[in-house]
Amino acid sequence: MLKIAVLISGSGSNLQAIIDAIKAGILNAEISGVLSSKADAYGLVRAQAAGIPTAVLVNSDFPDRESFDRAMLQQLDAWSPDVVVLAGFMRILSRHFVTHYEGRLLNIHPSLLPKYKGLHTHRRALEAGDTEHGCSVHFVTPELDGGPVIAQSVVPVLRSDNEETLTERVHKSEHRLYPQVLVWMAEGVLTFHEGRPFFNGSPIPEPLQLHQKP
Ligand code: GRF
Repeated sequence: MLKIAVLISGSGSNLQAIIDAIKAGILNAEISGVLSSKADAYGLVRAQAAGIPTAVLVNSDFPDRESFDRAMLQQLDAWSPDVVVLAGFMRILSRHFVTHYEGRLLNIHPSLLPKYKGLHTHRRALEAGDTEHGCSVHFVTPELDGGPVIAQSVVPVLRSDNEETLTERVHKSEHRLYPQVLVWMAEGVLTFHEGRPFFNGSPIPEPLQLHQKP
C-alpha cells in the first residue's frame, strides 16, 4: 500500500480530498503523517479527525532553512513515506531536502504551469484575460514550481468571474486532480526515472489533462 506523508501550512482541503479518496476506497493508500509549518493550520484538525499522526515545525524554532529542513527530514523519514505530498506548504525547500526525496516529492500549483509560477495565480490569469486556467501536479525539483508536470486540470474562466469565484473553481479541480495522480502512483503506472515522469512505462510527452465543466 502506498504510504503518503502530507505537508501543509493552512486549510488542508487538498489533504481532505486525499483522506476522502482513501476512505471511499478510490485510493489504495495510507497517510502515515501530516506535518504542518503552522501550529494553527486547520489541516491539523482534519488530520486528527481522521486519526492521522501529526507534527508541527515552526520557523522561529530554527536558526536557518537547512536546520528546519533537517528536522523535517527526520520526522518524515520516521514515517517512511513512499511519496511526500506538498499540499499548500508555504515554504521554499532546501536543495538537500528536494534531492533527498527526488521522484517521491509532489506539489500542486494553482495554475497551468509553466504559466504563473509563484503567488496570485488566479488574479494574474484574470488580468491576462485567459479563457482557461487550472492547476498542475508536478514532481518537485530545486527550481520553484519548475519540476516536470505530471497532470493538469483545466477549468474555464467565465466572463463573470472575479478572483474569488475563479479561485473556488480551481480549488475544486485540485481536489479531483491530486487524488487521481496518487491513484496512478499507488497503481504503479506513474513512475519517475532520470528526472522525468513516466506513464505506463513511457515518458509523458505532455502533461496529462483532466477537463472539468464549470
Ligand atoms: C492550493 O490552492 C494549492 O494549489 C496551493 O495551496 C493551496 C492549498 O489549499 N499550493 P489547501 O490548504 O489544500 O486548502
